[in-house]
Amino acid sequence: MSAALEQSAEAVLSANWTGGSTVPSRRQYPHQWGWDAAYIAIGWSWVDSARAAAELESLLRGQWPDGRVPHIVFHPEVPEDAYFPGPAFWDSGVDGVATSGLTQPPLHARAALEVAQRGAGEEFLRRVFGPLCAQHEYLAGRRDAGGRGLAAIVHPWESGLDNSPAWDEPLAAVSLPAGGVEPYERQDRRHVDAAERPSDADYDRFVHLARAYRDSGYADDGRSQFQVEDPLFNAIWLWSTHALVEIAEWVGEDAGPHREAAARIHDGLMSLWDGSRFRPRDLVSGAWLERRTVLSLAPLLDPGLPGEVGVAVAAELGSAHFRSAAGLGVASYDLTAPEFEARRYWRGPIWANLNWLLSRGLRAQGFDGPAAELERTTLDLVAGSGMREYYDPLTGEGLGAHDFSWTAAAVIDILRGGT
Ligand code: SER
Repeated sequence: MSAALEQSAEAVLSANWTGGSTVPSRRQYPHQWGWDAAYIAIGWSWVDSARAAAELESLLRGQWPDGRVPHIVFHPEVPEDAYFPGPAFWDSGVDGVATSGLTQPPLHARAALEVAQRGAGEEFLRRVFGPLCAQHEYLAGRRDAGGRGLAAIVHPWESGLDNSPAWDEPLAAVSLPAGGVEPYERQDRRHVDAAERPSDADYDRFVHLARAYRDSGYADDGRSQFQVEDPLFNAIWLWSTHALVEIAEWVGEDAGPHREAAARIHDGLMSLWDGSRFRPRDLVSGAWLERRTVLSLAPLLDPGLPGEVGVAVAAELGSAHFRSAAGLGVASYDLTAPEFEARRYWRGPIWANLNWLLSRGLRAQGFDGPAAELERTTLDLVAGSGMREYYDPLTGEGLGAHDFSWTAAAVIDILRGGT
C-alpha cells in the first residue's frame, strides 16, 4: 500500500507544479498560497530538493517591504476571474508580483530548516534567512496588538481555518455597511459543492473585512473589527522561531534574538491557557472565545509546554470531542457541538495537514504512540478516500478539491520521514 500511496502523492505534487511553485489544486486554488507553500515544500523536500527550495523562494518573492509574507502570490497568466478575490481586489504586491495583503500561519522557517536538512543546504538557508527574520519581525513589530508577545490575526483567512466556529462570535460582532456589502461574485463553488464551502453570511464578512483592511492601506493600526490571538497561528510561529534558532546557528548568525523571541511567544501562548484548554482571545471584546476547536490543540508544538499542560491537550485531542467512533483523524471542530457540520470546510471535517501538524506536536511532547497512530490513520484515510482537501470525520468520505497538494505532502512526509 505505501509504495503506491507514495507514488500517487508524488504524482499530485508533480501535476500541481507550475514550473516555479505548486498550486494547492489546479481548479479551486490556481495560485500559490502562503501556508500551503510551507507544507508543500516539506513534501517536495523528500522528492526534489530544488523544487522544495524554489517553492519557498517563490513565495518569498511576494514578501512586502514591511516583512509580511502574503497569503496568496498570484500567477500572472491566470485570468482574474479564476479565483475570487483576485489581484485586482487586493491591489497590492511589489516589483510586479501581485499578492494578497493578508498573511497566514508562519510555518515557513520550519519548512526552510527541513528543506535545508534534506539537501538544499546552507547556501539556500543563507538566501532565506534574512527574509524569514523579516517575516518574524513583522509579526512581532506590527501585529502584537494585545501587547503579550503574540501576533494577532486581522482576518479569519489569516488563521488558515476560514470559517471555523471559533470565529462565529467575533464575526457576528462585525458591523456591515448599512446598505449591505457591495456586490461581489464568489468563485469558490464552481468546482466544489456549496454544502462543503463557507456560507454566504460568512463570505460577506470575509469580503467586508478584507476590503476594510485594504482601504486602510493594510495599516495594522489596531482598528480592524476582527483582531484575535489565535493559539494555532502563534504555536506555529513559535515552532518556526525555534527553527530560526537552528537556522541562525547553522549559518553562523546570532541565535540569541530568536531564543528570546521564542521565550516571549511561549509566555504569550501560555496566556491563552485557561487552566483546562487553550483558547483564542478576541482583542476587540477582550474575551476568550468559547468554542472548542482544533486550534486549541496546536500548542502541542511548543517544546517548552509544562508537562501537565501537554498531557491535558493530548487528552483533549484523543477525546470524543475530536475523535469520532469511526476511528478517523482529528476533527476540526467539536463533534458533540450543535454547530458541528461534518462536510463544511473548517466546521468539522478532518484535514491531513492538521493531522500531520498534531502528530508532530504529539511527538514534541513525547507521545510517540498516539502520534504514530494518528499518522497511520491519516494514511489509511487518504488511501481509502483519495488525496482530497478534507474528509468527513464520521464516514471518512473525501470532500472539497481533488488532488490536493498539502494532503499529498503530508502523506510523503509521514511515509518518508518516519519521524
Ligand atoms: N482559504 C481561502 C479560500 O477558500 C482563501 O485563503 O479561498
